[in-house]
Amino acid sequence: MKRRIKVAPSVIAADQARLGEEVKRMEKAGADLLHIDVMDGHFVPNITIGPDVVRALDKITDLPLDAHLMIAEPQKYIRAFSQAGADYITVHIEACEGRAREVISQIKALGKAAGISLNPSTPLSAIKGLLKEVDLVLVMTVEPGFCGQKFMLSVIPKIKSLRKVFKGDIGVDGGIDQDTAGYAVSCGANILACGSYIFRAKDPRRAIQNLKKCQKK
Ligand code: DX5
Ligand code: ZN
Repeated sequence: MKRRIKVAPSVIAADQARLGEEVKRMEKAGADLLHIDVMDGHFVPNITIGPDVVRALDKITDLPLDAHLMIAEPQKYIRAFSQAGADYITVHIEACEGRAREVISQIKALGKAAGISLNPSTPLSAIKGLLKEVDLVLVMTVEPGFCGQKFMLSVIPKIKSLRKVFKGDIGVDGGIDQDTAGYAVSCGANILACGSYIFRAKDPRRAIQNLKKCQKK
């Protein structure tokens, strides 16, 4: 089954002093959704933005907002991100401490698309039994926390095995460019969260088109 490739610029790689303008630039460049990295300095060694910034961005764009919560105790913040306008809310299985099913139901009860994310070293077995509950599985292709890292080829087999058992959206996140996107798409990924490659490109429209060209042959 051919899935349309969706490109989600990851705003962590944007010029943070001009976030609004950067989002409009991505809209014009043909982004399908906006990937918003939320980091709390506990689950990952970095701190970024929260619900108030998501609300501000929601006011200026019609792009669907994909909130990637790299935070501890995500259940405490689902409602806030939902009310702020997030359309997808993705939590990390490693942060759910055995309550992933509850957190996913909380997201869906608010009418949002529910995503679960796996760090590179977390095996697929960690989300066994959740695949029927989620809309998206976000496979981390770098250690979470920072943009500009190198794509981890060791994650490729996980994407392949996941696509064999999951019909929903498979996102990849970290170190995505026109080469690594080709690997990920050929294994079944269809949502490309991409920061540096797009935001550092002279022509972000061409960068996004290059990623979409990786459509499974
Ligand atoms: C990493 C984030 C990714 C990353 C993407 O923790 O979840 O979204 O910032 O940035 P690049 O594409 O530069 O790796
Ligand atoms: Zn992310």
